[in-house]
This record gives sequence, C-alpha cells and structure tokens, in this order.
Amino acid sequence: MKKESHHALHGGDLDEISRIYGIDKNEILNFSGNVNPLGLSSSVKKAIAENTDKAVNYPDVSYVALRKAIAFYTGAKSSHIVVGNGSTELISLFIKTVSPRKAVIVSPAYSEYLREVEMSGGSAELFPLKEEDDFMLDMDRLISDITDSIDLLVICNPNNPTGTYMTCEQIRRLLIHCSKNNTYVMIDETYVEFSDKEISAVPLTGEFKNLFVVRGTSKFFACPGLRLGYGICSDENILSCINDRKDPWSVNIFAETGGQVMFTDSSFINSTKELISSERKRMYKELKKLEGIYVYDTQANFFLCRILKEDITSTQIFEELIKDNILIRDASDFPYLGNRYLRFCILDKKSNTLLLNSLKNCLK
Ligand SMILES: Cc1ncc(COP(=O)(O)O)c(C=O)c1O
Repeated sequence: MKKESHHALHGGDLDEISRIYGIDKNEILNFSGNVNPLGLSSSVKKAIAENTDKAVNYPDVSYVALRKAIAFYTGAKSSHIVVGNGSTELISLFIKTVSPRKAVIVSPAYSEYLREVEMSGGSAELFPLKEEDDFMLDMDRLISDITDSIDLLVICNPNNPTGTYMTCEQIRRLLIHCSKNNTYVMIDETYVEFSDKEISAVPLTGEFKNLFVVRGTSKFFACPGLRLGYGICSDENILSCINDRKDPWSVNIFAETGGQVMFTDSSFINSTKELISSERKRMYKELKKLEGIYVYDTQANFFLCRILKEDITSTQIFEELIKDNILIRDASDFPYLGNRYLRFCILDKKSNTLLLNSLKNCLK
C-alpha cells in the first residue's frame, strides 16, 4: 500500500499512524504524543471503575466539586476556574469570546491557536522565536511588537514544540505592558507541571484581569481520552461569556469523577516529576554527545532537535524509526522550522535508551 503523508497529524494521532503504516497501535512506542509514560494513575482508574453506574446521571452542570479540586491543586480561586472538554475546548471558547481582530501568536507553536483565531474571523501575526537564540523568547522584542492594535497575545509556556519557557518576572512585565494596551494574554500551560522551575502564571491571575491561563490533564495526568481541561481567569465578564457559550455537560461524568481524585494524588504527581526531571537531564546529556544533532534546552517533557548531518532530513529519520515501531514527531510542518527538526517526548528509561540508540544509528 502506498503510504500517505504523515504530515498535518496531531502528535497523538495513533489511529491514523496505525492505518497509514499498517502497524497495530498497541505496538507503537509513542514518542510523539507527549503523554506521561506512567500512564493513568491507579487512583483515577479505581475511581472510574467504581463509579461506572454514574453514567446514568448527568454531571453537575456547575462542576462545583471538580472546580474545588482544581482550586486546591492550583491555588486559584474556584470562582475563577472554568472546566472544559480538554484544554482544546477552552482555547476555542476563549478565542471566540475575545474574538480578536488582530492576534499575535508566539511561534513555532501548537497549530490550534491560529486555526481558532482565523475561524473566529480574525487575523494573526506570528512572532518568531529565533533559532539563533536557541528559541528562547526575546521579551524586549515581543513587548515592542504589542501595540494597542493587538487584541490578543497567545503564548505556550513551556512552549510546544521548542520546550523553551518564560520566567515569572518576564510574564509579569509582559502582562503590565499588555494591560496598558488592552491586550488579552492567553498562556497555554499544558506542559507546565513537567518543569523544574516555578514558571506558572496562575498566581498572577488574581492580579491581571487580561490573563487567561489554560491547562489540560491529557499530558501530565496521562488521560487524553478522558478530555479534561480548565481555564483560570479573574475577569468575571470573560468567565460568564465563556460559560454562556459553552455547551452544558461538556466534561463527562468520568472526567468529573477522575478529576476529583487526580489532583490530590501527590504520590503520582511526585513520581512523575522525579521521572521526567531525571530522564530529561540524562537524555539531554546523551543527546549533547550525539554527533549530527543539536539539542535545545527544554523545560517540557519533550526535546526539539535540529539535524546537523547534511544528507538526512527529519522525514527520513521519521520513516527510518517507524520501521521499528518508534514514533517521533517530524517537526518540519511547524512554522519557522523545516525538514531538519525532530521532536520526541520522554518515556520510561528503557524506551528512552532505545530511542537514543536508534537515533545514533540513523545519524551514523
Ligand atoms: C500546547 C498544547 N495545548 C493544548 C493541547 C491539547 O490538549 P488537550 O488534550 O488538553 O485538549 C495540546 C496537545 O497536544 C498541546 O500540545
């Protein structure tokens, strides 16, 4: 069978990869989905398994207990929290609510932001993270680009696909500037809990009404199939517009039940942080030693790499690795990247070592 292109697939699209390459999806070692290798925590599994009968009921339409659990976990006020069907629903609802004529998206970035801005009738300028800065954000340059004609700024922290991050001080400076210009700021913190650094903007949500922080559970809590995300914002108008637009019960009863358990499971949370932090350090060292590849520093649970070897592209490496059922993300379709960029996430130690060895073979 002629293979279709693997491009334009979301990192987690295992079903499509399995159809294109004829591999059983359970056999794929997925370095592309950025999901915590520890899998669903036993406490969440138990809570769901013991509550299957709840499917006969509607969830609480106001999600009071779930928002309380998220408030406990994040330190935000429960009245500032809105829950959604994955962070995807909240990204969409917030952008539709702001309905920006002009937005700035720090790029390369997750593709949904641009799609949502364009679908809501606005246009977006991409603010480039530069390769010569190792993709670290130049805050002075960004601030000088945000004028009062910009209605919305979108940033992911740590950023997908670069893994680079903003510090709290930088975020505060940015928010002060943006509030003077009446610019809303959406910070996507899907990967923030994997970071060793205190870089979350949640503590700033009480202070800045122009800030919307969006978070998911798919990656850190390893439950993309559950579809649970949340947004944090102190602007009551924004919150009530989002709630008015939102379909009722978009978070199903199992996500509602599992969510109340996962945020208090400190043993799972700590094990995840320890595993990712130590494997991130080990893999970074190993990748630095690999000839033919340049690795960027990361605070996420994935690495972005540039291929230095001249006679091989990211697509060729992707094709080589998938023959061994190893799935990585060919990052060539991200804006400002090209056919020399790869992204892969951190799995368990054994799988990570396998990937490092396979990469070494491709780069020989
Ligand atoms: C940066 C970023 N934001 C949001 C999402 C969507 O996540 P969710 O499953 O919470 O909708 C992803 C998924 O890959 C992502 O990488």
